[in-house]
Amino acid sequence: MVEERTTLIGAALPRPDAVGKVRGEAKYVDDLVFHGMLHGRVVRSPHPHARLLSIDTQAALQNPAVACVVTSDDVPGDNVVHVIYDDQPALAKHVVRYVGEPVALVAASSRAAAKAAADSLVIRYEELPTVSDPVEALRPESPVIVSLAEAAEGGGNLFNEMVLYKGDISRGFSDADVTIEGEYQTGYQEHAYIETQGAIAVPEDSGSFAIYGSMQCPFYVQRAVSKVLGLPMAKIRVIQTTTGGAFGGKEDVPSQICSLAALMAWQSRRPVKLVLDRGEDILTTSKRHPARVRYRTGAKLDGSITAIDVDVILDAGAYQTLSSAVLWRSLCTAAGPYRIPHVRVNAKSVATNTVPNGAFRGFGSPQVIFPHESQMDQLAEKLGIDRAEIRRRNVLKLGDRSSTEQLLDQSVGIGGSLDRATEMIAWDERLAAVAQFNAQSDSAQRGLGISCVLYGVGLGGKAPFLDKAGATMKLEPDGSVAVAVGTVEMGQGLTTSLLQIAAQELGIPIERIQLAPVDTSRVPDSGPTVASRGTMMSGLAVLNAARKLRERVEIVAEMQGITPSDIHARWDEIANAFWLNNLDPAVEGWAKTEPVSWDPETGLGDVYPVYAYATHIAEVEVDTATGETDVIDFVAVHDSGRILNRTLAAGQVQGGVAQGIGFALMEHIPQRDGHLLVNGLTTYRLPTIRDVALDMGVDFVEATFSAGPFGAKGLGEVPLMAAHAAVASAVSHAVGRPAKSYPLDPEAVASLLS
Ligand code: MTE
Ligand code: MOS
Repeated sequence: MVEERTTLIGAALPRPDAVGKVRGEAKYVDDLVFHGMLHGRVVRSPHPHARLLSIDTQAALQNPAVACVVTSDDVPGDNVVHVIYDDQPALAKHVVRYVGEPVALVAASSRAAAKAAADSLVIRYEELPTVSDPVEALRPESPVIVSLAEAAEGGGNLFNEMVLYKGDISRGFSDADVTIEGEYQTGYQEHAYIETQGAIAVPEDSGSFAIYGSMQCPFYVQRAVSKVLGLPMAKIRVIQTTTGGAFGGKEDVPSQICSLAALMAWQSRRPVKLVLDRGEDILTTSKRHPARVRYRTGAKLDGSITAIDVDVILDAGAYQTLSSAVLWRSLCTAAGPYRIPHVRVNAKSVATNTVPNGAFRGFGSPQVIFPHESQMDQLAEKLGIDRAEIRRRNVLKLGDRSSTEQLLDQSVGIGGSLDRATEMIAWDERLAAVAQFNAQSDSAQRGLGISCVLYGVGLGGKAPFLDKAGATMKLEPDGSVAVAVGTVEMGQGLTTSLLQIAAQELGIPIERIQLAPVDTSRVPDSGPTVASRGTMMSGLAVLNAARKLRERVEIVAEMQGITPSDIHARWDEIANAFWLNNLDPAVEGWAKTEPVSWDPETGLGDVYPVYAYATHIAEVEVDTATGETDVIDFVAVHDSGRILNRTLAAGQVQGGVAQGIGFALMEHIPQRDGHLLVNGLTTYRLPTIRDVALDMGVDFVEATFSAGPFGAKGLGEVPLMAAHAAVASAVSHAVGRPAKSYPLDPEAVASLLS
């Protein structure tokens, strides 16, 4: 399927959604208004764990501005937020399990009235013992948070446990000349999308509902709303509004937000808008799972790794949501992009009385990447081998098997990315320059850091039924083309790459093709827009549709006596001939991934259709008096197969690197007894342009994937995954000690220096 590079594939075409967004014309959910629309407010638990004794709605109901109050007793369908396990109630019934858990809903004529009425509810609780630390939650004497036994696979507070056994771990360590061991800790990361979570539920004709919202997965929302309202899925249509960033935070959470808006619309029979405040959004919606990872690596004197032994604990929060899927990616990514004969990984996700954590760019992989890269650095140090060189000796090559025994028979660009990144930074010379700087400076120390990562593209063997995509394509009588897919634009540039694929295959200008808005009643279910699968999966579906349409165009051309070489010149005439002759101008494209497999007993299998890879190199300067760290240079080289649009791809890399720098150096939410100690973006430190305004070197090595559209794989999450580890490696190099926990803020760096 890999074809010759042409003008459109790889071209830096401008994104069609940019102008409206820049001019402020794009309609986000909070810009929409419906006749008779109410404003909703969620009444939330102030306690991390408590029995819910009573809810007094009297005062609110007597308020003339209030149209309805909803509690768990009013839910017409199943009182659940449907994600993977149905353990999370839409509205708490007998028990609340985290601060911010929805307890009741109020819809009123204005936002202010809804807030005032929500505050007037009198709710009585009896506080229960709380456990807010995942390690403590695993102890038998800890209070059990999850009442539904089936929600916890392992009993008690253990939500999920997964294992991976490759080879013979004890032999792997007896083969080793040296071993390295360490414990690593990472905390929350908030998505900080520009647009907070929001939805509008609108009752429509004949008892159906339309749900407008900011989201990544409209088909998840359709199912969730259908469950909570007890209506057939066909009576729920979900319309994705222009989405102001998501980063995983709008994968499962919109199922909750839209379900709550739908409950108020159901009860009041009127359109209801629910848009979260920033502080409310940060405190009550999913974040990156805090993690504890113990990591042991064995290697021979030449640096070749013989074994790894890894234990991962993810803090899931009070309900399962996506934790099992996130954990699975931690499991499959724990070995990194390295050839390791003997592997043991144990991964657990654990319930605590904290906000449920979910998807965040990288999806469980950053938590293991920081450790695996730290271990590589320490091995290099112990063995006296250069840090880039030890990676070069261990990275996966064509024909190798991954940690899950998957044969990597094509598209393995990690070695190429490592070579290119070290060349771009001039690794040896830069190391020498850093050493020279450090010898001459007593107020600052520089460090050079490196990281190598692999990323399985798509949802893989844990949920193969989600890795499909559809596309419809219609030739209009004037020769323009309408395309519809079920994956969404959320800033990453998917619209542009899909249009490029369609234009390339049809041979018409990109301006003549229009992508339809995503409405579940009109677009095919393309699975969720997650796991960096958009370009690969929807791209394949669009390509499939375009091929079918092109074949049809060729037939109609022949009927019209138009020779193949004239098709493009006489395109409009052919399109009109479809219309004049009552010929079907619409086609459907479909794509699914190659078979994937996973054996939960051993953790082995062909777990992903293909992998993307990257090498990042960061240079930092640490102020030895204050502990402040500046990233002063950065190089990022990615293998995501064929790059369809260089400018957009570079934008994904720059944005992901910024988020990675934030994760490693500053982003932090302290948590005490289940209370998150942050109130908004004033107290949650995000990187600003000052922290990332560097002349970053970005490049791609394109190890094309024969089953991808024009050889493309996936890119979206990988930049973040590699960036934080390169920064941590650089800080460790600067201070001369391995960093073991994030964020590496001035306090942490100062203590590493002391
Ligand atoms: N880029 C922008 N600008 N906004 C986003 O919300 N989400 C990231 C990544 N890049 C995101 C982004 C995440 S978490 C994923 S899974 C991918 O984009 C999804 O898009 P793709 O499949 O088209 O790469
Ligand atoms: Mo991305 S975390 O898979 O939405």
